[in-house]
Amino acid sequence: MTPRKPKSRVQPPERGPEQEKDFVDEPWEDVDVQRIHMNIISREKGEPEEGFEPTPWWVWTASVLLLFAMGFYLGRFGGTFSFVAHEVEQPSSATMAPMKREARGDMVYAGVCQPCHQATGEGVPGQYPPLAGSEWLLQDPETPARIVLFGLQGDIAVRGATFDNKMPAFSEKLSNEEISAVLSHVRASWGNKAGPVSADQIDSLRTKLAGRAPWTAGELQSVRHKKPA
Ligand code: HEC
Repeated sequence: MTPRKPKSRVQPPERGPEQEKDFVDEPWEDVDVQRIHMNIISREKGEPEEGFEPTPWWVWTASVLLLFAMGFYLGRFGGTFSFVAHEVEQPSSATMAPMKREARGDMVYAGVCQPCHQATGEGVPGQYPPLAGSEWLLQDPETPARIVLFGLQGDIAVRGATFDNKMPAFSEKLSNEEISAVLSHVRASWGNKAGPVSADQIDSLRTKLAGRAPWTAGELQSVRHKKPA
């Protein structure tokens, strides 16, 4: 087998009687399919014009104006696509004021305290004391604040039952606002009727007692009674 010499293939078709011979006269090996196709294609009619006219200028102008208007609308009223714009409780954040989320007492309770003290505030007998009707929680605002900030361990009697367990400290995990919110919440839930605890109260206890060890019930009693009446 001798290698065939490649023919120059892509050639602009010339129209004329010679080209017709491509179909018939040339021997099979020399049939140049590409050239034949080029011939056929060039014989065909031009592309139809109707429906393929160039877009008129006014369509472009209108599109550009519309895009501009949409951009303006989004920029002006889109609220940077923030979901906050839909939060009814915080209308101030819709105007891009620096956002400060209010600590929600019920949410802090559900996320932090509830695993131990339970949704009912009744605790778990023998393990976690109740918060509903607890004298430790309700008498003064400082005692529960001290407990939540620095933890509690050892014997404690709550509503006539004794517990001897450990509650962790939350001074590192919760902010003043969160502790204030959760204590105000539990002091007013499950029939409890004690006043709120302010974030300032938490803050001053946090600073005054910084770094101290978990309380015992006895220590809590003695600080409580040292308080000027
Ligand atoms: C890991 C379990 C646990 C978590 C979480 C916990 N506590 Fe406690 N809490 C206890 C235990 C246990 C005691 C009793 C400690 C003892 O036996 O000395 C206690 C005692 C208390 C007391 C004093 C006793 C009483 O029943 O009133 C208060 C008030 C209290 N917790 C509030 C809270 C609040 C508010 C939170 C959430 C910020 C919280 N606790 C989170 C386990 C927990």
